[in-house]
Amino acid sequence: MGGLRYGRSTTAAVVHIVVATLVLQAQVLLGQDIFVGFYDQSCPQAESIVTQTVKEFNSQDPTTPAALLRLLFHDCFVEGCDASILLDSTPANPNIEKMASPNLTVRGYEVIDKAKERLEAACPQTVSCADIVALAARDGAVLAGLNFQGLPLTMATGRWDGRVSSMDAANSALPSSKSNVQQLTSQFGNKGLSQDEMVTLSGAHTIGKAHCVNFMDRLYDFPGSPNGVDPTLDPAYAAQLQAQCPRGNPNQNTVVDLDQSTPFVMDNNYYSNGFAGKVLFGSDMALFHDFETQFTSNLNVVNGMTWNQKFGNALAQMAAIELKDEFDGEVRLNCRRIN
Ligand code: HEM
Repeated sequence: MGGLRYGRSTTAAVVHIVVATLVLQAQVLLGQDIFVGFYDQSCPQAESIVTQTVKEFNSQDPTTPAALLRLLFHDCFVEGCDASILLDSTPANPNIEKMASPNLTVRGYEVIDKAKERLEAACPQTVSCADIVALAARDGAVLAGLNFQGLPLTMATGRWDGRVSSMDAANSALPSSKSNVQQLTSQFGNKGLSQDEMVTLSGAHTIGKAHCVNFMDRLYDFPGSPNGVDPTLDPAYAAQLQAQCPRGNPNQNTVVDLDQSTPFVMDNNYYSNGFAGKVLFGSDMALFHDFETQFTSNLNVVNGMTWNQKFGNALAQMAAIELKDEFDGEVRLNCRRIN
């Protein structure tokens, strides 16, 4: 696990403050009521409770940050950032987001439950589950080593929890591991995120693990390839993946590191891996074979520090998608159920 490196300089501090101010202003202009420090009066310990909880889980399982980053992404892309992904099924609504195929492998629910339990004890009915998801993802990124110019990575709060959970909505909004650049750009565009932010956020695939089923199509019977292997894969890497995910009847639970060299560190390796043919999904590989996304990916290889900064900003943008308000939202008492 990598930690934040502190290299504060006056210039970096000024740049950071300007960027943070612009992000905040953008959120206000969009009519969103989230801002940094929303709980300063109502629950001053809110952020530290979430941070402490994430740290505890991370000390037991260093894949915790990966789970939490993916949880935020999958929450925000469906019904906005409203913790709808946390809702359990009910007799009235059996087909929930959790049952959508991209969500079957989403993890981290117990981290949010634990943080919520502690927050309800400290400040009853105050901190939304949606804010816990956003803060936990931020904390995960920081714990895994995201270096925001050595400065604190702020996350606005004040989200409301939603009351709607739909499997169909999740299946259509979430990208697939087989998506092409056009599809990815359009799905992120639908959520107000630019192609550059899509490329930046994809760098999250520098931590965490994936199940064989999500990339087996690249290892065997790949259309048009004489040896059946996706020719954009590095041959030695492909052979290693074939050993980990044998043809036929692989163990459904086998997982492979998204970044072989530093699987627990938020660094810019994803981009060098991509150019070396060492990323797992067809959707990832596509970014390295398209003129525009290749260009931005190359900038991220060359300047890891800038990618860190861009990632922090893009994460805040993603965490502000389609927010609920007091009319269609609530602060849930239990993150798995509407009130
Ligand atoms: C660009 C479109 C994206 C696609 C198609 C995609 C697809 C996937 C797939 C198929 C997995 C493997 C899941 C499994 O087998 O268990 C995965 C894992 C992961 N994704 Fe993405 N993803 C995308 C974008 C993102 C974004 C924007 C983030 C966060 C900012 C993210 C964070 C992660 C993380 C951290 C993991 C590892 C999860 C774990 O270890 O449990 N992904 N993604």
